[in-house]
Amino acid sequence: MITMKIRPLSDQEVQQLRAETGGTAKRIHFNNAGASLPPDIVVDTVINYLNEEAIYGGYETEYKYRELLDDTYTQIARLINADTDEIAIVENASAAWGMAFNGIDFKKGDVVITSEMEYVTNLIGFLNAQKTYGIEFKVISNDEHGNFSLAALKNAISPQTKLIAITHISSTAGAMVPIIEIGKIARKHNILYLVDACQSAGQVPVDVKEIDCDMLSVTGRKYLRAPRGTGFLYVRKEVQDKLKLIFMDGFSAPWVSQTDYKVRNDARRFELYEKNRALTLGLSKAVGYALNIGIERIWQRIRHLAGLMRRQLEDIEGITVHDSGDQQCGIVTFSVNGMDSVLVKSELAANQINVSVGKAISTLIYMNKNQLSSIVRASVHYYNTEEEIKAMCNTLITIIKSYRP
Ligand SMILES: Cc1ncc(COP(=O)(O)O)c(C=O)c1O
Repeated sequence: MITMKIRPLSDQEVQQLRAETGGTAKRIHFNNAGASLPPDIVVDTVINYLNEEAIYGGYETEYKYRELLDDTYTQIARLINADTDEIAIVENASAAWGMAFNGIDFKKGDVVITSEMEYVTNLIGFLNAQKTYGIEFKVISNDEHGNFSLAALKNAISPQTKLIAITHISSTAGAMVPIIEIGKIARKHNILYLVDACQSAGQVPVDVKEIDCDMLSVTGRKYLRAPRGTGFLYVRKEVQDKLKLIFMDGFSAPWVSQTDYKVRNDARRFELYEKNRALTLGLSKAVGYALNIGIERIWQRIRHLAGLMRRQLEDIEGITVHDSGDQQCGIVTFSVNGMDSVLVKSELAANQINVSVGKAISTLIYMNKNQLSSIVRASVHYYNTEEEIKAMCNTLITIIKSYRP
């Protein structure tokens, strides 16, 4: 295997990228797993488009920008190594995931295999399919080191296994699930494979051919730095006809005669005609921006910053870092002994530091197993700096002292 040396982001580049992101001058933003700060160019693109719609008309503006709007699919396809006709643009990851999952032709007795890191939307989807069709879902527990168990997955597979549905990066833990290895197992057994890459796209390289998944769902506002209310679904060409459509309109399934319609021949069948064009262009800009920097370089810097943050947090008395597993990402989770996570978050916010609180409901199985009701989540992006990490840790030390009896 040839390993290519990745050129790290230089301090100068980071400063330039920060200068292109107005928000970095105002706050220390460690809530990238919630929503990243968008680059100014993304914000300007959306505002300009809306202004043009207001002046020239929505349909007229769409016509003017039709090639750029269409290019969004090409940008996304490049990002995940797919073909443009395998991409549907939707408004968030839950819609993308639901469109894929609920399109599957489940029968009583079918089994879905998932992991303990699965996201709430998806777990509710399994429960709903259990109630509606009588499917069963099996949860693969992490091993004692916090790693997904490939051996347990292999053991769990049976002729009834219809789907393997996996969240690559959980919303409330730093651990990553080995989606490429899981993909090999899914393919070997000819089982449908759905990946939730909501926290992954824009953070780590995502290559659908390497993962060998059939469906993959993504949101725009997190590591991709796109506007809120954007997302996309990838559906492998060969699988598109196997999924039912939940909604149809004249765009996804046009008339062929007064008595019949024909479903589109590409993944855009999972879209409806009416959508937010301004946000679509913003998504396109954000994806292009990330590709321009280079996802490998982004990932390298995020790993570096998150590792530094974990080490510094671990050195603070009274703080417990909860991340486990061999593969860690940019999401750092911790708690302050004796302090509610919501209070930690609000104290940091009073010091212009954004973090978020990961609640048990987001990843109920993982959180219950680890007896966690909530955790503080500090998620780094490439535009964060070592100084910001130091500042957050110093602020935490002050907060802890001020609450000590
Ligand atoms: C792992 C994961 N999957 C799915 C979602 C849902 O994304 P959206 O809010 O865009 O529907 C989230 C949101 O936090 C998430 O973290």
